[in-house]
Amino acid sequence: MENFSFYSPTKFVFGKETESRCGALVKEFGGSKVLIHYGGGSVVRSGLLDRVKKSLTEAGVQFCELGGVTPNPRSGKVYEGIELCKKENVDFILAVGGGSSIDSAKAIALGVCYDGDFWDFYSGKARPKKALPVGTVLTIAAAGSEGSGDSVITHENGMLKRGASGECIRPKFSILNPQLTTTLPAYQTACGATDIMAHVFERYFTNTTDVQTTDRLCEAVLLSMIEETPKVIKDPNDYQARANIMWAGMVAHNNIVGVGREQDWNSHGIEHELSALYDCAHGAGLAVIMPAWMTYVVDHNVMRFAQMACRVWNCKMDFSDPKKTALEGIAAFRSFLKSIGMPINFSELGAKESDIPYLVKTFGLGETGKTGGFVQLTSKDVENIYRLAL
Ligand code: NZQ
Ligand code: ZN
Repeated sequence: MENFSFYSPTKFVFGKETESRCGALVKEFGGSKVLIHYGGGSVVRSGLLDRVKKSLTEAGVQFCELGGVTPNPRSGKVYEGIELCKKENVDFILAVGGGSSIDSAKAIALGVCYDGDFWDFYSGKARPKKALPVGTVLTIAAAGSEGSGDSVITHENGMLKRGASGECIRPKFSILNPQLTTTLPAYQTACGATDIMAHVFERYFTNTTDVQTTDRLCEAVLLSMIEETPKVIKDPNDYQARANIMWAGMVAHNNIVGVGREQDWNSHGIEHELSALYDCAHGAGLAVIMPAWMTYVVDHNVMRFAQMACRVWNCKMDFSDPKKTALEGIAAFRSFLKSIGMPINFSELGAKESDIPYLVKTFGLGETGKTGGFVQLTSKDVENIYRLAL
């Protein structure tokens, strides 16, 4: 295991009707004028937005609002939010929604405290150091942004999807009420489940040895997802299954399962080009890319893949041919994704083979560049993985 420090100071308030506490929580973290930031209308239709406003009003917290965040959130909404916050003297941003609303809120939080263009943090020109405090009321278990110090935004100029990371954008609090996720369509639920599993796999495939504790934590999250996801696809109102998935989504990405080990993250980078170009759901893109990536890199450490196959997918170890076991595990992952309604190839996703050169180019490795923790990939490897996903 490698040395690490782990500091994850988000306050999580979990359970039924907990959104009623958001006003008090904003006050606890020093907010007096809030920007409520939300997406395309699900929180309006469900009545959640009204309940959030009621809670803020009861706590004596002033607010203004900005809705309209799209999935794969765009820079235009961020610029709008920064301007509004400055005009209204906002001192706290409350995201009500999924990863997209939360990531957009984090970007606004950074932009308000910065003299330059907020995109500097996403293009790698500047490092996040200061931001307005952010809180969240989560409505979908997926991205894990409710507990992460990450934000992913697509710039409309060039449709580049890029991430920024920093402790200052980790939410001060997150309200996780599993009841709020019962209105999700089955497809969106499955996209979220795929993303949660992908966050674990990005950490599970590592070159670091002697990481039993985090290996076992990863496997526990994956096993729970395999058990609980079909339940909510069948019955969207299964509260206990929704609750387990919601907590899994947070655990999968606040890095408690990834400390002390090298991580990969190439599947995410390769997927982000798909969701930037086709505006598909991030989880759906991962369902197409991650099994292809696994197949492409399996030889790098056959025994690690065989371990996944046996411990997560209940495959029987073939000691005479461990690669066979490893491939069975990857096939089991793909079948699971298919069973919950995920696309598993380019055409099911609506992606085109002819776009592969463009995808590789925007991935932006150049001729000699390499990326990834578990296996270092070149542009040619990235192209091969897109082709494997056809
Ligand atoms: O916009 P509304 O109307 O709210 O509808 C949303 C949206 O259409 C809908 N939805 C959310 N909660 C709902 C609901 N519909 C009915 N009932 C509910 N309770 O679901 C759709 C997707 O929402 P979105 O916020 O886009 O989902 P998700 O949480 O999957 O976020 C995806 C974004 O997060 C990024 C992804 O790349 C993508 O842009 N990621 C962020 C990460 C982070 N910040 O740490 C890490 C991830 O790996 C990921 O890259
Ligand atoms: Zn993800």
